[in-house]
This record gives sequence, C-alpha cells and structure tokens, in this order.
Amino acid sequence: MYQDLGLTVFEEVVSSQLIQRINASIDVARAQWRPADGRREVAAAASFAEWLRQSDTFRAVEAYACSTTRAWADATLGRCLPENVINVLRCVNHETSQQAHLRHFDSHALTLLIPLQGAETGERNGDLLLYKKQRQSLSLLHNISDKACLLFQQNFPLSIRRALTHHDIRRQHCARIACEPGNVYMFNGFTTLHANLEVAAGERRSLVMHFYDAGLTAGLGHPLRLLRELRDHITDKL
Ligand SMILES: [Fe+2]
Repeated sequence: MYQDLGLTVFEEVVSSQLIQRINASIDVARAQWRPADGRREVAAAASFAEWLRQSDTFRAVEAYACSTTRAWADATLGRCLPENVINVLRCVNHETSQQAHLRHFDSHALTLLIPLQGAETGERNGDLLLYKKQRQSLSLLHNISDKACLLFQQNFPLSIRRALTHHDIRRQHCARIACEPGNVYMFNGFTTLHANLEVAAGERRSLVMHFYDAGLTAGLGHPLRLLRELRDHITDKL
C-alpha cells in the first residue's frame, strides 16, 4: 500500500502486553525528563529496544530490515555502513508543537518506527508524513545544501510550517501515515523526506530506532545536533 513511498509495514509485531509495559514505565519516569518529550532518554529507549528484542517476531523484522538496508547501501552507495544504532523515544503532545512540521532527512538509512500510543483522533494527531520526493543526490555537497535549506525552513514560525504542510498534503506531495501500536514501520529516512503533524490532544508515543549512519554530514552531524539541542533547550524554556 505504501510501497511507492518506500514504507514497509509489519503488522501485529509487538504484543499489547509489551506496549502496556513500556507505557507504564514511561508514565513512571517522564516527570524527570528534560526535555519533557523524552528525546534524550537514550537509556530508557535502549531498554525498550531490548524488551522488543525478546520477541522472535521483532528480531526477525529487525534482521530483515537491516539486511535489506545493507543491500541498499551496497547497491546505492557502494559501501558498507556502520550500524550506529540510535534509539529515540518521542512523546509528543500539545506542549511540543515546536517539533511538528519539521521536514527533514535522517542521517541514518534505516528507521524503524514502533508506535506505542496514539494521540486523540483528529486533524492534529501527530501523524507521520512521508514525502514522495526523494533525495535527489547522494553527494556530500548536495547533502550539506539540503541540510542548510531544511534547517532554514525548520526555523519558520509554526503557523507557516503548518501551512506548508497542508499545502503539500493538498497537492499530494506527501501522505499521512496513520501508525497503529503493535505494527512496525520501516522506511529509509536518509532518502525519504519526512515530518510529523502536531498533536492537539492526548499524547503520541513512539520508539524510533535509527540504523546505519550514511556518513554524509562531513563532520556537521555533531554541530547540527548541538544546534538542535540548543534550540530544544530554548523552546523547552518557553
Ligand atoms: Fe526523522
């Protein structure tokens, strides 16, 4: 169904019991998190990833996703990529709208998105947006210019970013992906432009696992991450 967007959906991979266990753990811990969306809760996210790996079904999905991505890297980039797994926990609600409508490419070639909890249904429910337009070039120069251009757009006011998103949806430049807890969503965030809608009510929770850093940031990855963290730190105080 989503093959034209480079998205593969694995249905009913994660049990409802495990999802409940993870959500209960988040409920207990999140009062301590800064920022409150849990993006820097690396240890918790890594623990949840290990809980998932206790399932044969999840391990099979992860193994398939990794081998497919390694084959893509070999065919497209002509080299092996370091695994460089980064686990991120995203808990998004009406207080974290600054993270919405931020179109970007990942530095990693493989993203596994594991929804843990949906927001309340409606127009602003945090849905994933995948763009049909793929990265045009894999050259270092294009990568840097893409990043600079997207970083510029990411600093537009939320109202403008939201208007651009709705324009893109109307023009069918991108598709809303309704992610269901229990499923696992696999895509190449390095080549596929993507973003999220904002959340108006309730809280959307996802574990996001990134694998295989494509290494095209020319040493800019760390400074850009610091810049984003500085922006998050500032917006967290607002
Ligand atoms: Fe991403």
